[in-house]
Amino acid sequence: MYTDMPPLIYGTAWKKERTKELVIEAVKAGFKGIDTACQPKHYHEAGVGEALALLAQEGFRREVLFLQTKFTPLTGQDPLNVPYDKKAELSTQVAQSFEVSKTNLQTNYIDSLILHSPLSSFDDLETVWRAMEEIAQRGEAKQLGISNIYDLQILKDLYEMAKIKPSVVQNRFYQESGYDKEIRSFCEKNNIIYQSFWTLTANPHILKSAELIQLSQKYNKNVIQLFFTYLHQVGITPLTGTTNIEHMQSDLESFDIVLNASEVSKLDSLF
Ligand SMILES: NC(=O)c1ccc[n+]([C@@H]2O[C@H](COP(=O)([O-])OP(=O)(O)OC[C@H]3O[C@@H](n4cnc5c(N)ncnc54)[C@H](OP(=O)(O)O)[C@@H]3O)[C@@H](O)[C@H]2O)c1
Repeated sequence: MYTDMPPLIYGTAWKKERTKELVIEAVKAGFKGIDTACQPKHYHEAGVGEALALLAQEGFRREVLFLQTKFTPLTGQDPLNVPYDKKAELSTQVAQSFEVSKTNLQTNYIDSLILHSPLSSFDDLETVWRAMEEIAQRGEAKQLGISNIYDLQILKDLYEMAKIKPSVVQNRFYQESGYDKEIRSFCEKNNIIYQSFWTLTANPHILKSAELIQLSQKYNKNVIQLFFTYLHQVGITPLTGTTNIEHMQSDLESFDIVLNASEVSKLDSLF
């Protein structure tokens, strides 16, 4: 079964040995989407799997969760802790990494498999994408995506080359990239969901803006909830990696209001 992407995804980076406990809290708080990676340098993927196994014992069904993981090329791995054979062919690295993810996550399928970053040559990118397509063709990944892609031309070339088109772009949402305006417009036209990270950390100035504060007061929401509402309405799916149960609950309560068109365009002007 394939689960639709929820409006907010729980991110599991940097949680180390707290991963299991925090994922359990997040799912119990109501998160339906979990993001992880087969990248021991930043993610404890097996901790996510342990949480899911424990939740299953308590009656939470894996099938209702949108579970996303990543293949991380060698350049993004700790050379002393690579979760696949670093000397193997690229396509074998992808296959091995995916097997490790399934074992770590204690599941036989992934809802969304993401390439963590483009490779240094387009040929290598194509090799990796073809290996990911094989996994998707077997039905073990329900959709594919790419992360850290800030060059629109590479995204267009990938889209053109792919037999299974990317369904997700996961990028840093920040001023330096012009908030990915062109990338986001390409995504919208081609049915690709744009997921954002660094959403809060890179944007304290947005959270302090008069426009956001004024609307948050009008709707009786906090500024983070208002920001998440706005992002949802313009087609962005934020990730949040909060370690605080109150923040988890508050973030999930962002989606019960609807901004009108003039309010959305007022906030558009901040980006
Ligand atoms: N593809 C990639 O290369 C990549 C890179 C980075 C991240 N990611 C993914 O994105 C996820 C999110 O990472 P991130 O970089 O955006 O940062 P984050 O881990 O979500 O950090 C958000 C920060 O904001 C704070 N915060 C304060 N109030 C909050 C509230 N109401 N709700 C949420 N946070 C609040 C959090 O503190 P508290 O803990 O105290 O709430 C935390 O320090 C990661 O876990 C990972 O899954 C992917």
